[in-house]
Amino acid sequence: MKPNELRSYKEYSQNNIGGFHFRSRMNQLGYHSSEYQKKPLIAIINTSNDLMPCHSHFNQRVNEVKRGILQSGGFPIEMPVMGLSEPFQKPTTMLYRNLLAMEVEEILRSYPFDGCVLLGGCDKTTPALLMAAITVNLPSIFLPAGPMLKGHWRNKDIGSGTDVGYYWGEMQAEKNNNQDWKEIEENIARSPGHCMTMGTASTMTAIAETLGLCLSGSSSIPAVDSRHAQMAAQTGMRIVEMVWEDLKPKDILTPKSFINGIKILMAMGGSTNALIHLTAIAHRAGMNLALGAFSSISKQIPILANIKPAGKYLMEDFYYAGGLPSLIKQLGELFDGDQKTVQNLSIKELIEKSQIHNDDVIRSLENPVSNIAISILRGNLCPQGAVIKPSAMEARLLKHTGPAVVFKNIVDLYNRINDPNLIIDENSVLVLQNAGPIGGPGMPEWGQLPIPKKLLKQGIRDMVRISDGRMSGTGYGACVLHVTPESAIGGPLALVQDGDLITLDVLEGTLNVLLEKKEMERRQKKWVLPDPKFVKGYGKIFLKHIQSANEGCDFDFMYE
Ligand code: FES
Repeated sequence: MKPNELRSYKEYSQNNIGGFHFRSRMNQLGYHSSEYQKKPLIAIINTSNDLMPCHSHFNQRVNEVKRGILQSGGFPIEMPVMGLSEPFQKPTTMLYRNLLAMEVEEILRSYPFDGCVLLGGCDKTTPALLMAAITVNLPSIFLPAGPMLKGHWRNKDIGSGTDVGYYWGEMQAEKNNNQDWKEIEENIARSPGHCMTMGTASTMTAIAETLGLCLSGSSSIPAVDSRHAQMAAQTGMRIVEMVWEDLKPKDILTPKSFINGIKILMAMGGSTNALIHLTAIAHRAGMNLALGAFSSISKQIPILANIKPAGKYLMEDFYYAGGLPSLIKQLGELFDGDQKTVQNLSIKELIEKSQIHNDDVIRSLENPVSNIAISILRGNLCPQGAVIKPSAMEARLLKHTGPAVVFKNIVDLYNRINDPNLIIDENSVLVLQNAGPIGGPGMPEWGQLPIPKKLLKQGIRDMVRISDGRMSGTGYGACVLHVTPESAIGGPLALVQDGDLITLDVLEGTLNVLLEKKEMERRQKKWVLPDPKFVKGYGKIFLKHIQSANEGCDFDFMYE
């Protein structure tokens, strides 16, 4: 690309009122024309705010990206956008993933940028930013936030989400006391950066790297490591080169990139949420990912990353062990290394020198952590699919039949789960209705239903749980998730009643309620559509246009 072909040049070089406004207002901002003219104008999309602990280092990283852009002859402009802060935003950040995608898409479309750097990491920010960048298709590079340092308590490493769930169970079973719990609270999140277990954030940033949309090795660097700051400056340098090369997301992404993405999801023992996000990202690139693709790849690719919740280490260990490039190398011929990246090199070329420094953290194909990361289920309870994470559940529940204990919604669940009179034992199957994209709304992470206190006290730590909601990637348990069609639109999950026998067979990939078809039809006729959760505003648009989990939960009007 030549300077006078830049998108920005076409705006400020106009000899008319439009060009005058651009130039005079840049003067007002204090920029002399020599600072920006004939240079790529680069947007730095910043998803941090003061309630965004996972991105609290971004203001510093923006400075480093700016340094890189200036050194390479570009002109940086920071654009703050909405942050989706997992711990604080209710009922769920998933309600706003598409809104962030739309906001970024419109900013990139409406301002005269030549390229962009996208700063994200906390769960929904990564897919939202990638969905936007792919749709607009300007030269774009993703800058992953990086994981926070390991939690550390009484000489033990503790991990976000996974260990919170474990120690909360111990508290409920009265095996931990309030002092223990307070100390865990003070020691689990010790630095900026996203959750350091293999949750949705670590999964999605690794997938972004696998898709070729960020610098090789960048997604594994801990947020506070000085190499993260260096990576930020290099990202800034690279985006300027990408503009001159006119290298855009759709020049990089191919169907094989997405197959590689699914393979890394499985090899990392990643979050079930990635099924939804990867499907939505692929749609924006004009590709369809059917649940069948996830199912067949999950049978080929074992878990090699020994990271919680499926394994025992944390992301900081993963980085020291060699990070994502080394994990990709371990997959050998199973991974298509010919796919291109933002560096205009193939993945194979970029990972050539990677080495494993700890073969217990990054395992080999001969010595995997587990054979299967995620299983897809079908059956009369989930005709369009459901998912479960066999690597993060008790093996005794892989094949299980038990009577349903049904909760109509999350309020009903919290009101009754610890009722001493609730008829329930360890063989029961907990069912939560109305937790899906429409029912939640927004498909909150309610899928790791709590185990009743009275069973925790008996030492029960896992039970079969079924919902049309999602589960945190850091979560643990025999939780069947994303049941589709969802109960709020009359899917079969809405018809389940207390005492119905439900059979789960993870190895066979089936989930069924043992009811005659006639009985299901009888119940269907009596079922009444619930009132909508929103009757105005953004929520109304969301309910009208949101697609189901197996379609990626994007809005139906966002792609052809
Ligand atoms: Fe931000 Fe977990 S809270 S990634």
